[in-house]
Amino acid sequence: MTLPIRVAVIGGGIFGREHVSVYAGMPSVRLVAIVEPNEKRRLEWQRDPLAKTAKIFSSVAEMLAETKLDAASIVTPSKTRLHIATELMSAGVDVLVEKPFADSPEDAQKFAEVAAALGRKCLPGHLLRFSQGHQNLKTVISQPAFGSVVGVTLSRNRSRALISLYPDIHPAFLLGVHDFDLAIWLTARPVTEVSALEHRNSQGKVDYFVAHCLHNGGAISTIQVSCLLSEGDPAQVDDSVSVFGTGRTAHLETASVDDEPQHFGFGIENAPLVAELQYFLDCVLKNQPSTLCTPEEGVHVVEIAQAVLRSASNGGEITRLRATNF
Ligand SMILES: NC(=O)c1ccc[n+]([C@@H]2O[C@H](COP(=O)([O-])OP(=O)(O)OC[C@H]3O[C@@H](n4cnc5c(N)ncnc54)[C@H](O)[C@@H]3O)[C@@H](O)[C@H]2O)c1
Repeated sequence: MTLPIRVAVIGGGIFGREHVSVYAGMPSVRLVAIVEPNEKRRLEWQRDPLAKTAKIFSSVAEMLAETKLDAASIVTPSKTRLHIATELMSAGVDVLVEKPFADSPEDAQKFAEVAAALGRKCLPGHLLRFSQGHQNLKTVISQPAFGSVVGVTLSRNRSRALISLYPDIHPAFLLGVHDFDLAIWLTARPVTEVSALEHRNSQGKVDYFVAHCLHNGGAISTIQVSCLLSEGDPAQVDDSVSVFGTGRTAHLETASVDDEPQHFGFGIENAPLVAELQYFLDCVLKNQPSTLCTPEEGVHVVEIAQAVLRSASNGGEITRLRATNF
């Protein structure tokens, strides 16, 4: 493959804009297309200097008929992503798929199968594996003095405004997927059993859940997610991870009272999205599979999210997952 790598962003919404902004700043990349079905957003992109090298299309089919490309970020609502990824991979395009892969384990599994059958890269966008703080944590817990991981406690608290922004997405699929992924990455073990409880607000929407996950080998993850922070609370983004080992413990706070909210890109050195997209393009350029985050791990994260929903709707009943080695 020759440089620059020809890239498209599918889905020109809020997070698609962050992908566009990162690609636009990469010297080895030419942003050739943005696909966005919403006409108002398309007009905005046509006037946007960030998109000056890109043609704006209303569908993937229209783009593929006119444009040659090597790689694409899929940043659309989750129910659309399997169809889009299949269309792109069938046309020889490698894809980075925003988290979570899909709304169901069955659809998530199809991503992995299609990518394997077509020999294409299909990287799940599990951003936090590329955050410097989380990578430092992984390095610390990999030292011999840390011993083996006994337990991981993850907490993620967000604004209650998220519930009205994403009324149809359970917080396990919206936010928890980050933590399920961190749990399997930090323990390096898949989950075998889940028990979860959830709280619903007066409109019947889930605004809080807690999940206990048993990993293959015995480690235990506890994941707590809320969408309950209000205007005037100390922080609108408030996350932490603690890892307990047989030798040591380690702790990471990713945002607290006086910190800037998490920032995903815009050219900040080492920002997670810059690192993630750079890694994706390195895999594309070198024709190497992703070892940092695999399609099978993307599938397992969806299986855990689904198990959390099932357990919580059955009052915390233990829900067993199928055996997997990633
Ligand atoms: N990794 C992260 O931390 C992170 C953060 C935010 C969002 N996301 C993910 O990114 C996705 C998009 O989130 P968002 O906040 O940008 O949503 P958004 O609604 O602002 O943008 C989605 C865009 O996709 C477009 N779209 C819908 N169907 C399409 C299709 N078939 N082809 C092309 N475009 C299509 C919509 O018109 C919309 O503009 C979400 O599913 C979310 O999971 C990930």
